Amino acid sequence: MKIISTVAELRAQPRPKGKRRVLVPTMGALHAGHLALIRLARKNAGAQGEVALSIFVNPLQFEPGADFSRYPRPALADEELCRKEGVDLIFRPAPGEMYFENRSTFVEETALSEPLCGASRPGHFRGVCTVVTKLFHLLTPDAAVFGEKDFQQLAIMRRMVRDLDFPVEIVAGPTVREPDGLALSSRNQYLSAEERAQAPIIRQALLEAAQSDETSARKMAAAVREKIESASLARIDYVEIVGTDDLRSRLTIEPDSLLAVAIFFGQTRLIDNILLR
Ligand code: PAJ
Repeated sequence: MKIISTVAELRAQPRPKGKRRVLVPTMGALHAGHLALIRLARKNAGAQGEVALSIFVNPLQFEPGADFSRYPRPALADEELCRKEGVDLIFRPAPGEMYFENRSTFVEETALSEPLCGASRPGHFRGVCTVVTKLFHLLTPDAAVFGEKDFQQLAIMRRMVRDLDFPVEIVAGPTVREPDGLALSSRNQYLSAEERAQAPIIRQALLEAAQSDETSARKMAAAVREKIESASLARIDYVEIVGTDDLRSRLTIEPDSLLAVAIFFGQTRLIDNILLR
């Protein structure tokens, strides 16, 4: 397994022609959700192909005052997990490698980025699009794998490669969960014991909604809110029912509807979603 931490080193090792490369972009602090994406990448790349994983805590996608500096960075544990999973290449640049101090060019998707997390995290998806563009240019993958847990991010990546003609196939991986239903996230470790005990209410509320025969989006959202608010430490950022194609609010539950939520437990913001019908 090669570990590359500078752009110069990456450029000095052009990738072998005819070998399929599949990239898993991450911010590290790898958990079973990331590992499932690595396995999907291997399946997509084939035994002869190359699985590359990037680890970069991207300052551009954290709003001021967010958890950028306290974001976990367990470098050795991440390396070990990658080795076990048969990753071929880790690209782990320092922030100074990725951004010039006087950078003035960004990549921005302007429709799908507006609602949901875009509304509560201004600039976040511009940071994601910019860094993923750079990773695509630097690593030239044939495909890249993203998780459905971050459904909006996945939709924006698909739109970005379509609109800007990136020759990169976007592959989606299902959400990996704890046995009690909580979606795995590097941020779960910020939860206190009490918050962690209450957090599975999110999945329970989403499942209940998906299993109901409610057809009014407003009524379904109200039921989800009520259920989540029954957890004393939960504070709702949003509960939305949107179309999977445009991520815009729907009035009625249609076959392409997605129920998406963002919930604070203390300072920790958790997101999850479920497809309806
Ligand atoms: P990060 O939060 O590290 O997530 C990396 C990838 O893992 C994303 O595609 C995310 O959707 C996926 N993932 C996270 N939790 C998951 C889970 N429980 N099950 C399945 N997949 C899961 O998302 C980012 O990093 C960044 O925004 C990035 C794309 C790397 C750009 O900086």
